[in-house]
Amino acid sequence: MKPIQVGLLGIGTVGSGTFNVLKRNQQEIQGRAGRGIEITMVADLDVARAQSVVGPDVKVVNDARAVIANPDIDIVIELIGGYGIAKALVLEAIAAGKHVVTANKALLAVHGTEIFAAASAKGVMVAFEAAVAGGIPIIKALREGLTANRIQWIAGIINGTTNFILSEMRDKGLDFDVVLKEAQRLGYAEADPTFDIEGVDAAHKVTLMSAIAFGIPVQFDKAYVEGITKLGAADIKYAEQLGYRIKLLGITKRTAAGIELRVHPTLVPAKRLIANVEGAMNAVMAHGDAVGTTLYYGKGAGSEPTASAVIADLVDITRLHTADAAQRVPHLAFQPDAISNTPV
Ligand code: NDP
Ligand code: HSE
Repeated sequence: MKPIQVGLLGIGTVGSGTFNVLKRNQQEIQGRAGRGIEITMVADLDVARAQSVVGPDVKVVNDARAVIANPDIDIVIELIGGYGIAKALVLEAIAAGKHVVTANKALLAVHGTEIFAAASAKGVMVAFEAAVAGGIPIIKALREGLTANRIQWIAGIINGTTNFILSEMRDKGLDFDVVLKEAQRLGYAEADPTFDIEGVDAAHKVTLMSAIAFGIPVQFDKAYVEGITKLGAADIKYAEQLGYRIKLLGITKRTAAGIELRVHPTLVPAKRLIANVEGAMNAVMAHGDAVGTTLYYGKGAGSEPTASAVIADLVDITRLHTADAAQRVPHLAFQPDAISNTPV
């Protein structure tokens, strides 16, 4: 069967990771998807840089609409970011009958209701595993793994930049501005880092998790949002002396009055697992009535961790898109000779 053809809009930190991982693990991914997946067209403002990432065999253009207009493209990946052009492009891709994969939590938290309605009317998917907690498959966990549960609360460290800043300030005594610059250099921070440090990015993510867990519309405007910019070295030190760590938590829970949705710095007892989540790592706890409390941990930002989630969505859509129903079940690519235990 001909590989599914993917058009990529924006080949920066996450886009280049997606291209590279898809190429490197091509064989395994094809086995699991039941069909090849190829990025055949890329749009980026910097065509020369983009072409140097993808090599001469992939068509690179600077007009994202040319990718959407290409009738051979089955899935469009939006990795430009922001609410502006990204919103128009996602809606145009949906209108053109393309499935969409995006890591853009800002766009979905603010315009998700409109975008999901457009996708539903057109019968296409908008998948966004990478939008929350980077490489941690938390969307899948909430939608599939915990599907039997009445979720009662979710709480997590869901912004790598701020967790990195708080960790480095505590461990190395470094200044806020110095660590923020390092987070930007490492590709963790948003194009506008005020979204990270003011808690907005975490609020985007907790808004999306809340919508999935509680079956409510995405309502970012209802979130209480407080970032880490008012914290100083003294706050971190005093918390430590009292046996606590300061973590920026995104929290959503059922209460008698309705669903709470909030982001703010929180004192967490130092002996708790989540207090020991360091650097740009993320951790999400979700409590369901049947399963109790579950914990998910991993890299919440960066090129390849985020690419891992983008490609998981590509594989899901490819399985659903294929005409052969047998391919729609999760695929186990057996390798009978792969076990190399030494005989005892
Ligand atoms: P980058 O800024 O690294 O990449 C964005 C790319 O899009 C750049 O190459 C940019 O080109 C290009 N671009 C901008 N405008 C257009 C346009 N009109 N048409 C085509 N290309 C365009 O961002 P990231 O890769 O870091 O982030 C992408 C998305 O992923 C964002 O929504 C972000 O929130 C999300 N995300 C990021 C994570 C991370 O760790 N970085 C983790 C999880 C999600 P140029 O540079 O020339 O302007
Ligand atoms: N800026 C985000 C963070 C990227 O630091 O967590 C991952 O969504």
